[in-house]
Amino acid sequence: MFRSVILAAARSSRVERLVATAPVSRDVVRRFVAGTSTEDALRVTRELADAGLSISLDHLGEDTLAPHQAEATKDEYLRLLKALSEAELTPAAEVSVKLSALGQKFDEKMAAEYANAICAAATEAGTTVTLDMEDHTTTDSTLDILSGLRRDFPTLGAVLQGYLRRTEQDCQELSGPGSRVRLCKGAYKEPETVAYQTRLDVDLSYVRCLNILMSGEGYPMVATHDPRLIAIAEDRAKWFDRSPDTFEFQMLYGVRPEEQRRLAEAGHTVRVYVPYGTEWYGYLMRRLAERPANVTFFARALATKG
Ligand code: FDA
Repeated sequence: MFRSVILAAARSSRVERLVATAPVSRDVVRRFVAGTSTEDALRVTRELADAGLSISLDHLGEDTLAPHQAEATKDEYLRLLKALSEAELTPAAEVSVKLSALGQKFDEKMAAEYANAICAAATEAGTTVTLDMEDHTTTDSTLDILSGLRRDFPTLGAVLQGYLRRTEQDCQELSGPGSRVRLCKGAYKEPETVAYQTRLDVDLSYVRCLNILMSGEGYPMVATHDPRLIAIAEDRAKWFDRSPDTFEFQMLYGVRPEEQRRLAEAGHTVRVYVPYGTEWYGYLMRRLAERPANVTFFARALATKG
């Protein structure tokens, strides 16, 4: 119920105006977002890399409906990848890309071409790309584009969401040699027809998917902050004899940073997903929806600034 209300607010332009113009939003945003500029992204990337962590940078923006905006997003990724390479922050840092920010909703072919350009720039910069997964209406399109791009860029990462009923099957199909797959629970409000609705069912599905990926021949990227699932992933890695260079953990910037350091110190690769840019609203609302305490934190900050 709580999650539904917050995720509905994520789609409301009235609430967006309210939140985006509240001065205190900036303080809350800073916890989850590196900043608005490429320089902010580079600064935070450097800090994390110095702490022994890997990074995936996300230029914020989604559901783009204007061609010039999609092109600007592609150009920002090209600029970012060049800057990361010049700063010698690759391969520690890769990029995460949302196809909807490249115009997938109105011109799939263009979005695929822009994604191709970003993959080529990443290869030139000595690093990789992961295609984020969005709501279930885009899953088939995103996996189709992924499979086309992987012919030229086999290291292109996929994202699968444990809450979708179809995901076990997708894991089977994407667990071949070298296949990089980020497994997350899923962050969108989805109908019962396509997605498990209870926390228990989502967690059980996540574990079934994890078993498929960990026993497969690909490179699983275990994206969760959930202590139980992290422990299960560590256990499965041992069970399937996986060395630390054959899978990684991933977490979001600002969420459980002490756990990120603990896993890295234990010898695991830990990649922190770092969003930056001015279009932080949808991203922030999904983070608030995940955890009531974040909303309390936000409300308290609003009240204090009064
Ligand atoms: P869950 O939400 O059950 O949280 C477990 C515990 O983690 C909580 O009890 C709390 O301690 C902590 N925690 C979790 N979220 C928190 C938050 N926001 N603030 C503070 N503490 C928090 N989704 C998607 O649909 N498409 C995608 O492409 C991606 N990509 C992606 C990349 C990476 C690196 C991560 C870590 C996550 C994603 N996600 C995503 C988001 C994902 O689907 C999911 O919504 C969140 O990770 C939260 O789920 P958890 O697995 O952490 O479990």
